[in-house]
Amino acid sequence: MSELVKVKHLHKEYGRNVVLKDINMSVKKGEVVVIIGPSGCGKSTFLRCLNGLEEIQDGVITVDGLPVEPDKKDIVNIRQKIGMVFQSYDLFPHKTVLENAILAPIKVQKRIKDDAIREALELLDKVGLADKKDYYPRQLSGGQKQRVAIVRALLMHPDVLLFDEVTAALDPEMVHEVLQTMLDLAKAGSTMIIVTHEMAFAKAVADRIVFFDQGEIVEETRDVKKFFEEPETERAKRFLKTFAYE
Ligand SMILES: Nc1ncnc2c1ncn2[C@@H]1O[C@H](COP(=O)(O)OP(=O)(O)O)[C@@H](O)[C@H]1O
Ligand SMILES: [Mg+2]
Repeated sequence: MSELVKVKHLHKEYGRNVVLKDINMSVKKGEVVVIIGPSGCGKSTFLRCLNGLEEIQDGVITVDGLPVEPDKKDIVNIRQKIGMVFQSYDLFPHKTVLENAILAPIKVQKRIKDDAIREALELLDKVGLADKKDYYPRQLSGGQKQRVAIVRALLMHPDVLLFDEVTAALDPEMVHEVLQTMLDLAKAGSTMIIVTHEMAFAKAVADRIVFFDQGEIVEETRDVKKFFEEPETERAKRFLKTFAYE
């Protein structure tokens, strides 16, 4: 399998605050990597670096062989290879579900409108929202809005999808439907890097767990079951103890 995302010696700081220290990671096509770790350890910053939303001070990030460099013109093309879904869905309030979904494919990728609409409707159907296509965001629940945000990201045909705590702001009964959508994507072979605090979900979806603490990768394993039962490092042990998961 080919490596889609490569991170070498990534170093990131905000002023004098070092946030990511010598991060090395590569993600293959079809792989699902779940990043976990305590609040403030640099998970969101890492995803933002991958997407070229942050300047980095050292190291190299490539997506599909192309370097991610925020100040270069090419970044627009790279961002299309790497879709991101955030905790807050940022849908346009005055646009319908369908209009939100097709906006970027038409504006940025210059896709033919009818094609974008056809595909958007297919994807909305897949996530159980076909009947909501003409609704406005305010008429939807948080879980529904988040699924629209996922459809919007998918419609750009990214090579990799990044998810940053996408269920953190949802009511508990909405969490499941969003996680199910992500599980379905994983099963369909999508390449994903997921930051989550949902440990049962992490266990179910991950091909690999990467545990961050204080800006470093402290533990990383493909033996996902073992990580949750018996992590190697004390720091991971301590972190997992703060969760009640099955
Ligand atoms: N825009 C920013 N400016 C300065 N410091 C930031 C900024 N964003 C994040 N940080 C700092 O970087 C560190 C990591 O934050 P973050 O990546 O959000 O962690 P996590 O997502 O793991 O909770 C924290 O110390 C945070 O205060
Ligand atoms: Mg975060």
